[in-house]
Amino acid sequence: MTFSLSNSRLLIAADSLDWMINWTIQHSLSLADASPLAFDGREELVPESPIETLYIHIPFCHTLCRFCSFHKVKYSEPLAREYFKALRQEIREVIAKGYRFNRVYIGGGTTTILEDELIKTIEMIKGLTQIREVSCESDPIYFKEGNPELLNGLVDRMSIGVQSFDDKILKASGRFEKFGSGLQQADYVSRAIELIPTVNLDMMYGFKGQTPESIQWDLAQTVRLHPDQITTYPLTLGIGKNRKKAGCLAGHPHELWPHFLAVKKALSGRYLMDFPWTFSRNFGQPVENKYVLDGEDCFGVGSGAFGRFGEQFRISSFDIPNYIQRVKQQQNGTCYIKNIENKALLQHHLMIMMGHGRLDNRIFNAHTGKTLWQAFPLEMSYLLGVGAIKKQSDHYITTEKGQFIALKMFTGFLSGMDYLREQARELPLSHHEVELEKV
Ligand SMILES: C[S@@+](CC[C@H](N)C(=O)[O-])C[C@H]1O[C@@H](n2cnc3c(N)ncnc32)[C@H](O)[C@@H]1O
Ligand code: SF4
Repeated sequence: MTFSLSNSRLLIAADSLDWMINWTIQHSLSLADASPLAFDGREELVPESPIETLYIHIPFCHTLCRFCSFHKVKYSEPLAREYFKALRQEIREVIAKGYRFNRVYIGGGTTTILEDELIKTIEMIKGLTQIREVSCESDPIYFKEGNPELLNGLVDRMSIGVQSFDDKILKASGRFEKFGSGLQQADYVSRAIELIPTVNLDMMYGFKGQTPESIQWDLAQTVRLHPDQITTYPLTLGIGKNRKKAGCLAGHPHELWPHFLAVKKALSGRYLMDFPWTFSRNFGQPVENKYVLDGEDCFGVGSGAFGRFGEQFRISSFDIPNYIQRVKQQQNGTCYIKNIENKALLQHHLMIMMGHGRLDNRIFNAHTGKTLWQAFPLEMSYLLGVGAIKKQSDHYITTEKGQFIALKMFTGFLSGMDYLREQARELPLSHHEVELEKV
């Protein structure tokens, strides 16, 4: 493949950004200073206004895909039933303390792995508090083997991981055996699209052997099914232990730019780009399209959940039996907290603004009390220098190169989450828990 001079400059800029992101992740997302949440019966300071999202984690999967570093274990029914029971207890306690939420996002793992337990959990939440929207994540086989019609009226949005309709990629990542061929999965997914009000399909790219043409083919299969939303994830290797396993599947990092252009080409016209990694069906009018990733406050429950409100980052126990034990002992599911540096939060805003396509000084200032140049002197010079942003009257807009830089920032964000999960798995049990373990 040949690149023009301006493309080579972009790749050099992207490589230096990779280096900088890795450095930032290791410095600002270290959990070395995370502190165990004291369990001393003191009242928690519950915010008066609702937190945007209650995030619920279901850490079980039928199959463990080679590229995935999310918190999950191989499914065992007795453990999963005990887990759901503890989860409901934790949610009841959180609501009883006075926490309120606008939306519920149930992520995994595979949230539909025990549909009766999932239904019981959603029904309980809806009975206890007012919720605007419930989103779930699932795999395609659920729509063949499960009873998704039972979710009618309970789940508003379903995000289904397809990753690819290409059988070679499905086989290499370990998904073909459990979820079936690309053709079969398209069939299962169309059932979901008929049943669930809003369906998002997760697709991945950046696999070894993929070309711009094969990516366009893959996404053409996706578009043919007319999902409401499509999320296109560049395969992210993270910076931890998972890197080696996922790395065997990955293409060359420099292919990401032509691959990103192929994604845009495949989806243009029928889909609108909300962010360089999320697309919504073009109905000729904007659709509400909210994600856990958009930087809003989020309260996490369940083993392996993260939450963040304000500058506080909260981590739940990654050890499933230990999580169940904690809840049974009426302790908090959250076991560690860490204060996040304001700089890291501002960088998250920058990623969202870049991805959204507009950097507006007035809005940013009203939100943070700083101008863009006060908050990001180096970043703004870099973005202007590489042609990632352009001034337009009183604001800046993101160019196509800027969309690509935003996509690199997004993969940095995913790597950061991966790094956090890796450290969270190693966090020591607090003294009180160690005592409990001995009982
Ligand atoms: C946690 S999974 C849950 C979806 C569901 N369990 C499934 O796989 O069908 C959510 C999404 O994360 C994305 N994902 C997982 N590992 C990834 C990686 N290493 N890089 C980029 N995206 C990844 C996949 O697109 C996946 O659908
Ligand atoms: S991609 Fe989905 S099914 Fe595969 S291991 Fe991750 S959470 Fe489980």
